[in-house]
Amino acid sequence: MPLNLNVVWQRLKIHSLHSDNYTIMMGALLKKGEDNLPWNVLLLRMSAIYGFIGAFLGSHMAGAGSYAFKPIHAHILVVGWLSLFAYSSYYRSYQVPKSSKLAFAHVWTAIIGSIGLTVGMWMYNLNPFNLPAGFTTVFYIVGGSTLLLSFFLFLLMTFKYSESKK
Ligand code: HEM
Repeated sequence: MPLNLNVVWQRLKIHSLHSDNYTIMMGALLKKGEDNLPWNVLLLRMSAIYGFIGAFLGSHMAGAGSYAFKPIHAHILVVGWLSLFAYSSYYRSYQVPKSSKLAFAHVWTAIIGSIGLTVGMWMYNLNPFNLPAGFTTVFYIVGGSTLLLSFFLFLLMTFKYSESKK
């Protein structure tokens, strides 16, 4: 397993040689003329996407008169919109080297974990695709654990990189 992770890291590094950043993989979030995204912009755009989906779910619940999506709506907004926006502000405000592996791990566990937790909660609570309970439970747990890891990595980040940008 450590070997596999290393391979992924090396590949991303090669990828980044041309872009001076590790976010080139997020092509879908790039606008015309951009070839890479700083962490703060990547997180900002992700949080805006969560914000729209979360608010849309709130409107859907109000319109449908069914609150089945309530915990999913709440977590998409609190984890996706608010937490990722807070992380975006951190990367905008503090000096974090572009090459920081800790930042790389933090940002990607935050993105993967927030998707894993909210999609996992949806599949576990409502099971819209009739998937086996074992699968939805594991998906939910892995998603939640990845998100928990991202919060721990953020704790480390705040001790390692806490000098304000000039
Ligand atoms: C278009 C905007 C929104 C609409 C229409 C909406 C609608 C709703 C509705 C209908 C509920 C269920 C209320 C109930 O159980 O009685 C709810 C719950 C909740 N919403 Fe929203 N919401 C919106 C935006 C937001 C935002 C921006 C946030 C947070 C950033 C948020 C956080 C929550 C939370 C935490 C709950 C759970 C409350 C509880 O269980 O007591 N919502 N929302």
